[in-house]
Amino acid sequence: MTGNSNFAHLDTSRLPSPCHVLDLARLEDNLKLLKRVGDESGVEILLALKAFSCFAVADLVAKYLSGMAASGLYEARLGKTRFGGAMHAYAPGLKEGEIDEMLTYADHLILNSLGQWLRFRSRLEGRAGVEYGLRVNPGHNEVENPLYDPCAPWSRLGVPAKELRAEDLDGLSGIHIHALCDHPYDAFARMLDAVEKNCGHLFGAIDWINLGGGLLITEDDFPADQLISRLKAFRERTGLEVYLEPGTAIGLHAGALVSEVLDRSSNVGELAIMDASATCHMPDVIEAPFTPDVLGAETLPRDTNAREGEPSIVRLGGPTCLAGDIIGTYRFETPPQVGDRLIFLDLGYYTMVKATTFNGTPLPALALWDSRTDALEIVKEFSYADFEGRLS
Ligand SMILES: Cc1ncc(COP(=O)(O)O)c(C=O)c1O
Repeated sequence: MTGNSNFAHLDTSRLPSPCHVLDLARLEDNLKLLKRVGDESGVEILLALKAFSCFAVADLVAKYLSGMAASGLYEARLGKTRFGGAMHAYAPGLKEGEIDEMLTYADHLILNSLGQWLRFRSRLEGRAGVEYGLRVNPGHNEVENPLYDPCAPWSRLGVPAKELRAEDLDGLSGIHIHALCDHPYDAFARMLDAVEKNCGHLFGAIDWINLGGGLLITEDDFPADQLISRLKAFRERTGLEVYLEPGTAIGLHAGALVSEVLDRSSNVGELAIMDASATCHMPDVIEAPFTPDVLGAETLPRDTNAREGEPSIVRLGGPTCLAGDIIGTYRFETPPQVGDRLIFLDLGYYTMVKATTFNGTPLPALALWDSRTDALEIVKEFSYADFEGRLS
């Protein structure tokens, strides 16, 4: 099982359910490691808000990271107003009407195409304190699932490097690459080789390069020192300022979702209905798909067909009427009963930021828990108003 064994010491009866819980100890460990990588390699590390926008921990984040990466106007505003620090904003489709407000937050603005840059150039240039960059597709694939591969055929994300000449970057001071998703160091090293090979002809025309996110720097066995040496060598050789913008790595193993068993039944195999939903609260479980681990249970393959007469194998699903609202199938030592609380591990990123209230399903509360001291603070609870407020 991957994850954070600290959650074994969490008393879930102190929480509302469902509830996201962030372990401040693991979060701080992640941030410390990212800061060390940044400091020792001379690279700036930004938090990708799309993965993790929990501003209740903004002060902790600000202790270790110098800025934020946003993927649109609202994230740029949230980053600037709730977190602070540098703001690197990118938008796959920038709206003309959003430019002025965007420039009140962003110190780096990354355009997705030369068309957008040339159309908006006269409105953008000359703004004090703002630098512009272009998203470039390095033409290198590491991601197997096309849903998450920014460099897949027909990708709309960035300009293919082979179509760009250095002169095309006139007026721009940087390029932005993002080509990984949940990858270990080796994939990053291959990607950087490809970037040097396929984008090297652009380096003389720019001052900085953002190498994106998708790298699991805070995974338990990650070779941080190898990454540091590689980044340092790249920076010294090219003379470029380098940025990384991890999202997952900030929240990795720091978050969990606590959820209560609402009902038990059986149909072919054993079933439980939880008060947390895959489709509402962890949509990547269905989209990717993947199965989150449950503390104390064995995670079985998603297509496991639980057989009758195997009470220890239970398929957990959400409280919505979507037939496919299935979180996963697990083997329990003691099968969970109505009222029991389970801890779904590693649901601190791409969860709160993606949650919906489909079916009128309540949103999980948010709690900050420090596994070093057992201090617990419930920082947010949602109500009917949050459901109604998005409708009219
Ligand atoms: C442009 C860009 N930067 C950074 C990230 C963060 O990636 P991760 O959360 O996998 O580190 C993403 C994720 O999709 C992205 O699209």
